[in-house]
Amino acid sequence: MSLLESFSTSQQFARPETVMVRPLLLKPQWMNRLSERLLVSHYVNNYGGAVRRLNATRARLAALDWARAPIFETNGLKREELIAAGSVILHEVYFDSLGGHGDNPPTGVEEPPAELALALERDFGSVMAWHAEFTAMAKALAGGSGWVILAWSQRLGRLVNQWAADHAHGLPGATPILALDMYEHAYHLDFGAKAPAYVDQAMANLNWERIGARYRMAIGEGAGEDELFLPFGAPAQAEARVSAEELKTSLENHEDRRPFLLDLCLPKDLPRRTDMLAGASMHAPAALPRWIEQLPRDRPIVVYCICGFQVSGTAVTELRQRGYDARALVGGITAWHAVGGATVPLDRSTYEDS
Ligand SMILES: [Fe+2]
Repeated sequence: MSLLESFSTSQQFARPETVMVRPLLLKPQWMNRLSERLLVSHYVNNYGGAVRRLNATRARLAALDWARAPIFETNGLKREELIAAGSVILHEVYFDSLGGHGDNPPTGVEEPPAELALALERDFGSVMAWHAEFTAMAKALAGGSGWVILAWSQRLGRLVNQWAADHAHGLPGATPILALDMYEHAYHLDFGAKAPAYVDQAMANLNWERIGARYRMAIGEGAGEDELFLPFGAPAQAEARVSAEELKTSLENHEDRRPFLLDLCLPKDLPRRTDMLAGASMHAPAALPRWIEQLPRDRPIVVYCICGFQVSGTAVTELRQRGYDARALVGGITAWHAVGGATVPLDRSTYEDS
């Protein structure tokens, strides 16, 4: 099972019926003229909201007496389930399709990898012709809402640009490999009503490496590309990571068995922070020699940073080498927000200015 599949099928950490939130792979503070405020709000409120709605709907469905439920309830819940699931999946394709590489922000001039470029050429005449059609379709949705999706259709034997009026609109059997969100919440904070400017800017932030990997998976040739779908710098081993859902469950434990929460933040990132998990100790990564002595050895330590990239990943690797049961929170406090996790105002009293 690939990493992408394991996130999707929720087998790793949470109850099997729970659809888990996926982490942001893009670095929201380093995008090419798409603001962190816009991207994080979209991820937490709209994507996270869809995940929460889907799980709540599935819980209601699990408790439904199918033989006795009134048809309006059966219809309503199944409709909501489809809409929320479509929203979750399309938002994941959307966010995965954006971002730079490793520590590098998007350049704005990246081209599709050779294999996908050839497929676009085969099915649209040229990459430019595909681009012209895709962006025209997106701009035609301005003032309305919906998605423009590049999908692989096995039945049609080609890539298609698909119009979607809502989250539940899809070409049957086709696999989305790139999705552009044309709901107003995807651009209004940065672009106001100027949807065409947003379309051009989103296209200048595409991560063609991940889109190419999705294409290979769609045609059944994807292999060994898991690291592309893990936040840059996150620990490679599954046992060194913990999901927001699993952390939520473990914090409900008796105090003695709860994980110790370590909030790490680079000094330059402090202005980006407003809140923290209740009971966490906040420190600078560079002050490790001072804070490491406070860490317990008899219970897990969950380390989190803003999005779960190198700050928590590097610390977890270091702590595990020293024998601590340390795990990085996948997606950081941003994923925690997306699952509706509670927080308290930021307490910097333990933070060492080094
Ligand atoms: Fe959206």
